[in-house]
Amino acid sequence: MTPVNVVIDTDPGVDDFLAIALALNSPELLIEAFTTTGGNAALRHTNANMLRILEALHRTEIPVYRGAQRPLNGSFGDAEDVHGAGGLPIRLPTPLARPLAARAVQFLAHRLETGPPVTLIALGPPTNLARLFRDFPGSSQSVERVVLMGGAVDVPGNVTPHAEFNVWSDPEATALVLRSGVPVTLVGSDVCNRVRAHADQTPVPAHPVIRRLVEAQWTARPGRYITLYDPLTVMAVVRPDILGLERLAISVDVTDGPERGRTSRDAGGTVIDVAMDVDVEAAIALFSERVIRGRFGQ
Ligand code: RIB
Ligand code: CA
Repeated sequence: MTPVNVVIDTDPGVDDFLAIALALNSPELLIEAFTTTGGNAALRHTNANMLRILEALHRTEIPVYRGAQRPLNGSFGDAEDVHGAGGLPIRLPTPLARPLAARAVQFLAHRLETGPPVTLIALGPPTNLARLFRDFPGSSQSVERVVLMGGAVDVPGNVTPHAEFNVWSDPEATALVLRSGVPVTLVGSDVCNRVRAHADQTPVPAHPVIRRLVEAQWTARPGRYITLYDPLTVMAVVRPDILGLERLAISVDVTDGPERGRTSRDAGGTVIDVAMDVDVEAAIALFSERVIRGRFGQ
């Protein structure tokens, strides 16, 4: 089967780390690059974490391009209370690699001028993608699909009662990406809440760094589970049949009111594919196969 060309945009982040590991261990993907954004932690941390992850998993041949330090409007908060200081609950060595000079949007715009169509997988606030489509309008023609971890349609948000973290972090960027004309698959809390790696149901990971990561996170988090937001989003490309998609008209609340960042069913909204069902057993099985039992150049 021909692998899908992807660029993964991410704010590592515990579940980002696990999603990146899944992607690296998935022959269904050809990962051309990673782009980073602020979100779970400041960009200086998330970009360093991205480099650390590739060094830990022996995949430093894949380039990393730094992206957004702030959203389209205002500034990023962070989720260090969930992911740990600096975005991870474990300390990893200072990365050996230096950041590339080219920035994320510059790389993406150049990449999309030529070459095969690419699928953009967004695992953090979608600011880089919004800037790409806003500042390089022609780029959207070469994007096969955007698969975005974000939103909460029929379930409560996870950062306010209405908003999921990635969308809440940059609602304007989310709205711009939905309106870009590129096909969008939204993988939000409606399905992610149902896919969790529980400490007492997950075997000991084969890779020592992944083992340290999940054990630290289980210790730190009430309920001793990790919600697999970003890994499930990667699965939408690796194993699309795991998710049940519905074509829904969605709008994003970009006001400064209490529902800022809410993703709602709205007849006047943008029609996109929204993941509203998931084969939980298959998702957990794929996660166990590719991440928990995964060998990464060991
Ligand atoms: O709401 C969950 C999302 O926010 C995930 O991508 C997690 O990594 C955080 O970025
Ligand atoms: Ca993330």
